[in-house]
Amino acid sequence: MEIKIEDASIRLLDALYGIEKQCFKLEAFSKQQIAYLLTDYNSVSLTARVNEELAGFIIGQIEIEQNVPAGHIITLDIAPNFHRKGVAQKLLQEMEALFKAKGIKECRLEVREDNAAALNLYQKAGYQKAAKLENYYPNAHGLYLRKNL
Ligand SMILES: CC(C)(COP(=O)(O)OP(=O)(O)OC[C@H]1O[C@@H](n2cnc3c(N)ncnc32)[C@H](O)[C@@H]1OP(=O)(O)O)[C@@H](O)C(=O)NCCC(=O)NCCS
Repeated sequence: MEIKIEDASIRLLDALYGIEKQCFKLEAFSKQQIAYLLTDYNSVSLTARVNEELAGFIIGQIEIEQNVPAGHIITLDIAPNFHRKGVAQKLLQEMEALFKAKGIKECRLEVREDNAAALNLYQKAGYQKAAKLENYYPNAHGLYLRKNL
């Protein structure tokens, strides 16, 4: 099985929004928010194709704090048909490599406290819990995770 990673394009907006709706309920980004993220100067977006079929995407942003850039994973979505094939792991690794190539030394993200699949994925990738985010989501607490790249 070949997993091909490419830069995401605004031309894929409808398809990416379709995957977003399959992945998230209350906290799904709107189509407008995804369009903004895909075109924002500080964003980095990648898609994954499995046997040429669009399987998922990741969007990260570069944030500058006190002159130090940090990477922030904004969303990571894999279409249900492609779960447990290593697609998310590969997208995350590619995003981290892009951040590293830009001199970024830390990557962060927020995740629902009850999202066991994502928590396993991130823990396996070396992310550690930095804080609990009370009522961060409409109906759940969040966790703030970080990793040194
Ligand atoms: C979480 C998500 C991104 C994982 O995508 P995926 O491509 O299926 O994950 P991978 O195949 O790369 O899995 C890598 C590791 O993550 C963990 N993992 C992934 N899915 C899991 C599940 N359903 N249950 C438990 N652990 C899981 C495992 O440790 C897995 O390694 P293994 O398969 O060797 O055991 C996917 O389930 C998804 O899109 N969920 C909805 C959106 C979401 O929650 N995004 C993250 C928001 S922060």
